[in-house]
Amino acid sequence: MEAMREGSTGSVPVGLTGAGPAVRHATGGAGSQPRVVAVGGEDFDRLCRWILPRVESVLNGMVLMKSPEHLQLLADKTVAVCRQAGLNLDSDTWAALLQHLQAELVGYGPIDPLLEDDTITEVMVNGPNEVYIERGGKITRADVRFRDDDHVIRVIQRIVQPLGRRIDRTHPMVDARLPDGSRVNAIIPPCAIDGPSITIRKFGKKKFTAEDLVRLQSLTPEMVEFLKACVDARLNIVVSGGTGSGKTTLLNVLSSFIPNDERIVTIEDSAELRLHQTHVVRLEAVPGEEDGTGRVTIRDLVRNALRMRPDRIVVGECRGGEALDMLQAMNTGHDGSLTTIHANSPRDAVARLETLVLMAGMDLPVRAIRQQIASAVDLIVQQARLRDGSRKVVQVTEVQGMEGDTVIMQDVFVFHELGIGEDGKVIGVMKGTGIRPKFTSKLEAAGHKLGAEIFQAEYRYGVQPEPMAGPKSNGNGNGRH
Ligand SMILES: Nc1ncnc2c1ncn2[C@@H]1O[C@H](COP(=O)(O)OP(=O)(O)O)[C@@H](O)[C@H]1O
Ligand SMILES: [Mg+2]
Repeated sequence: MEAMREGSTGSVPVGLTGAGPAVRHATGGAGSQPRVVAVGGEDFDRLCRWILPRVESVLNGMVLMKSPEHLQLLADKTVAVCRQAGLNLDSDTWAALLQHLQAELVGYGPIDPLLEDDTITEVMVNGPNEVYIERGGKITRADVRFRDDDHVIRVIQRIVQPLGRRIDRTHPMVDARLPDGSRVNAIIPPCAIDGPSITIRKFGKKKFTAEDLVRLQSLTPEMVEFLKACVDARLNIVVSGGTGSGKTTLLNVLSSFIPNDERIVTIEDSAELRLHQTHVVRLEAVPGEEDGTGRVTIRDLVRNALRMRPDRIVVGECRGGEALDMLQAMNTGHDGSLTTIHANSPRDAVARLETLVLMAGMDLPVRAIRQQIASAVDLIVQQARLRDGSRKVVQVTEVQGMEGDTVIMQDVFVFHELGIGEDGKVIGVMKGTGIRPKFTSKLEAAGHKLGAEIFQAEYRYGVQPEPMAGPKSNGNGNGRH
């Protein structure tokens, strides 16, 4: 930041030659006296368009990072370009111009401020004129736009170039990550019909703890106690949910319950998990080249992990043939494994697992696959993003086994949505079903004797409108009954 301020005092000669943009003279009149100019509105946009290629050309292809040295360099080069053009900007205009150039050449263009804003969790660019953001679980339109398709593509290039990847008409899709770990997908014409599209899932700097999730009313303290016991007792757990429902966040919390003396191997597409245990080996898939060279899949990593003497395998998400290897591992002594899957209910999660196993290319009869799932998976935790943007565990379901061709499941905790309050927040009840899971003996063997109250506790979330008469309702929205 200091660099910017220093730059802003750099004095730039006055007077604009024909090469420059039209500027409104804020101070001083015509004549040969040096004068400082302020540039605003459309003229400022013109100034930006005019100066960007010139600064780029003096930078001579150098890729700038957000370091003080590079920011200073950018300020110096910009001063030089202004000086050469005989342009002396007032300090406000200068600061705005430098900010624009930093966003374009050091950051990610118009979306740079959105990426810097920690309260924003997702940034979605649908062509140059539409940018949406997610904040507090709510999606809204952001007040920024790109000049045109090329401008969006420029930003995509800035993201992928440092990673040695490319995007163009013959490679119109790319997955990448920002230096801070945020996940990026970009897709451009001809695949993206309405213009280049960027989707950025920001890497939450904040790591949620179990206590945070309770405070956010995503689950109850009793559910935490139950899940803690399940992880400690080495049950195999699948977190199920839609995109952005909080699966990875919950997986991270569940992983935090793994005892510190166990050897954990984590496997992810892009490393998001942050475990506090000391004995952790983190593995990450590699996309590789278009033709497959250099590609390392999640499945390759799961297979490799089995040879690494893991006590626990934590797989970020099962979305392919690795599901089969996971199930086999779970069934052959590598219990206590954790993973997530994209599904809308526990029942759907089982169906999805079936599909994924079929994708593994083994010619197994469906019933045999189902059998494997039923015996491997102990618990499915269903996570959801509700209408008000909040995330909740909406079902904790035991997988009990098979009856005929059907996988038998039993809910242990459920969330019932009752409506929407005047404040726009979902009203609902989160409660234990009162039914003890069949694996209770496993929990007890591991030293976890859970009282009946764990399975019966009931919480009401959200504020219901005050009734006209009668007993006062519990106003804190988090009452235990
Ligand atoms: N329980 C929660 N309450 C509020 N926000 C949450 C919760 N869980 C996750 N989030 C936020 O939701 C977003 C998506 O979470 P993530 O765990 O990455 O979802 P998924 O893995 O299902 O795609 C992140 O920004 C995360 O910080
Ligand atoms: Mg995830």
